[in-house]
Formats: sequence, C-alpha cells, structure tokens
Amino acid sequence: MLERLVRDHRVVVCVGSGGVGKTTTAATIALWGALEGRRAVVLTIDPARRLANSLGIADLGDEPRIVDPALLATAGHPVRGSLAAMMLDQKNAWDRLVARHAPSDEVRERILKNRFYLNLSQNFAGSHEYMAIEQLCLLCESDAYDLIVLDTPPTKRALDFFEAPERIRDFLDRRIVRWFLMPYLSQGWAVAKAMNRTVGFLFRKLEEATGVSALAEVSDFFSAMSGMFDAFTARTDVIHEILRARSTAFVLVTGPEEQVLTEAEFFSERMKAMQMPLGGVVFNRVHEEFAADPAAFRGGAVTRGDEDAVRAALLAAGVPVARVPWLASNFVDYQQLARGEALRLEQFRAGLSRRVPFVTVPNFDTDLHDLASLTRMHAHLFAPGAANEKGGPVSADDSSGHARKSRARRRSPE
Ligand SMILES: Nc1ncnc2c1ncn2[C@@H]1O[C@H](COP(=O)(O)OP(=O)(O)OP(=O)(O)O)[C@@H](O)[C@H]1O
Ligand SMILES: [Mg+2]
Repeated sequence: MLERLVRDHRVVVCVGSGGVGKTTTAATIALWGALEGRRAVVLTIDPARRLANSLGIADLGDEPRIVDPALLATAGHPVRGSLAAMMLDQKNAWDRLVARHAPSDEVRERILKNRFYLNLSQNFAGSHEYMAIEQLCLLCESDAYDLIVLDTPPTKRALDFFEAPERIRDFLDRRIVRWFLMPYLSQGWAVAKAMNRTVGFLFRKLEEATGVSALAEVSDFFSAMSGMFDAFTARTDVIHEILRARSTAFVLVTGPEEQVLTEAEFFSERMKAMQMPLGGVVFNRVHEEFAADPAAFRGGAVTRGDEDAVRAALLAAGVPVARVPWLASNFVDYQQLARGEALRLEQFRAGLSRRVPFVTVPNFDTDLHDLASLTRMHAHLFAPGAANEKGGPVSADDSSGHARKSRARRRSPE
C-alpha cells in the first residue's frame, strides 16, 4: 500500500510507459492526499478531456486551479485539505520561462518571435519533459502545496523524462553557444558555407532537423539568449536536487503486458543507477483470475482443455444452451489471460527490492474520468480507512472487498 509513501513525501512523480495510467494514478493520489488533509496539487499532462473537465482545468492556462470543494463533495467526498490541478501547456511554459529570465522586454520579444525559438519550444526532443520538471520546480518553490503530484508525458522511452534536463543543458552548453555566436553566422548560409565545408554541412543538418532555414535567426536566437544561459544551468542544478531529494518519491506505473513490463524492468534498473530509487509500483489494469470449483477443475484453476467442463458447469447453472459455447470459450480465454498476468507480475516483483511497496489495480469496467471514479482506485492504492478514518467517505467501489488481497490469490465468481 502506498499511504506511507504519499504521507512521507512532498513530491510524488508518476512515471512509466505510454498509456499505462500515469495521469489517472497521479490525479488519484493527489485526490487522496486532499482527502487526508493535505494541500495537494496535481500537474497533469494531456489528461483525457473528460478528466480535465471534471477537475475544472479543461479551458485554462497552465496555472494551478483549486478544484471546487463543492464539486468534490458532490462526488461524495468532503475534503479536509484542498486539491488543485493544472495542465501543462508546453508553449506557455517556455514563454514564461523566457519572460522570467529575459533581461529586458526587448530581448524577451525578440526571443518569443524568433522562428528558431518557436520551433525549439515545440519540437525539441525532451522539451515537453523539461517543461514538466520546470513546472515542478515552480510548484516546489511555492509555499501553497504540501503534496505535489507530477504526471509525466507519454513517452515510449520512459527515461526520456529524466534525461531531458541534461539534454537541454548539453544543448545550451557554453561551447556550442559560443560557436553559434560567431559573427559570420548572422550573415547567413552562403557565408557560412564559404567559410568552411563542414560548417555548411552541419547547418544543413540543423536546418533539416529544425525546419528553420534562416541561419541568421538561429544565430540571433543564441545571441538574444546568451545572457540567460547561466540561469538555465543553475536551473538544471535545482532540478537535479529536487529529483534526488529525500522528500521526492517515484511511483512506477505499469501494465501487466509483457512488453510494458519489460520496459518497466529496464526503467527501474536505470533509476537505481541514477540514484533515484523507486518508492512504489502500481500494476494497473490487471485482470483477476476467478477461483473455480476444485472438485470440477484441478487445483481450482481453469486451463486450456477445460472447455467441456466449463460448458457442463454453465449448463448446470441454467445458462441458455445457445450461449454456452461462446461463454465457455470466452471464460477460458479470460482465465488464461489472468493467469499469464499473475505469473508475469510475480516474476517482476521478484526482481524488486522487498522494501518497495507494490499494489495491483484491476481493470475497471469504465474509464476513470471523473472524481467519483478516481476514488475507485483508492481502495487498491491505500490501506482501508486511511483517508476515511476521521469521518471521511468510504469508497463504494464494488470490487474493494478483494482489492487488498494478494494478486496471487484468486477471487470467487460472483
Ligand atoms: N484501472 C483502470 N481501469 C480502467 N480504465 C483505466 C484504468 N486506469 C486507467 N484507465 C483508463 O485508461 C486510459 C489511459 O489512462 P491514462 O491517461 O491515465 O494513461 P497515461 O499513462 O497517462 O497515458 P499517456 O502515456 O498517453 O499519458 C484512460 O482512459 C483511463 O481512464
Ligand atoms: Mg497521461
């Protein structure tokens, strides 16, 4: 269970591969913190439209916005703390960063209108990740929150998130910058090419990568930015500190599919190497195996080849004959899926330190797009009564009864 992890940390970062449930988990954790009495904020990245709507952040800029307590109460959850939510707007975040560091209005305008900058702020690999971390720093610097939950961008390579600050720092490396500031560059391609074949080649590559053909603009960008690089470098140091602070915990969200788990394994290894150990693991969207009658099925497990026995059981239970074949085959398939997931999860768990708490969350029958449905997750992430013990709401989740059972145990069909 993750209650200690959330209680003992100020910053909780939800990481993992694309589509596994990071945004949902981040919102769920922040909501639980608010129920517990924390001043919680969740920074979401591209949340599903309906989730953004239900948090009240669908049409807003990238400022944290307090979720209306009355709205939370209508979901059946009197809140002892507060919940704020915000959505990362990458372009805005870059612009504000520039505005914060620009020495004058003139320089700021010059940068904001620069085509190379416009391209960089949208398309630079890692730009999204960098801005998420930059926003995290801002939230950490504010005294308004004592629980900050960070969602991370959808990425195939989960580690992109942590490497982004280094990449930006390398990109803004003084030596490279100095090179861009060479006077002949501002005069354009022709001069550059004439100066040096290699330089000409490099710039053609740069043009291909960025789509910005005017070399003068690239050069102008760097010259306008030149006074600001120290601030960026200092920032990456702060980021480094926050990500490695004792008050920061990482929660790895993963699905039970083989490929996703392989990525998760790689991810957890690399995090260890980067001295950012995992604080917890959420196995999301797990299919739970049903316990079958041991008298009819060996070991109480339904396996391939048991279709006849399943059909017989269905007929005996009064299921109309026409439905029996497909119900039986569907059930056997489901049991196989659930069994495969259980085995993979056990294997994954065996590779984790015993100290790392892990939880499993079932694949619910609906998406989790509003506050009430987010609380369905609570029973699976947090020990019973943690947020409720002082008179708070009790989740009405239908599946909470078996939520805290070990994944290895099977539940009975209803
Ligand atoms: N346990 C669950 N049961 C059912 N649906 C779920 C569960 N967890 C998440 N979902 C749904 O799965 C979808 C994807 O979840 P989410 O957006 O949180 O993933 P993500 O990891 O943030 O994705 P991305 O990498 O694209 O940002 C959402 O529609 C969400 O409501
Ligand atoms: Mg997401």
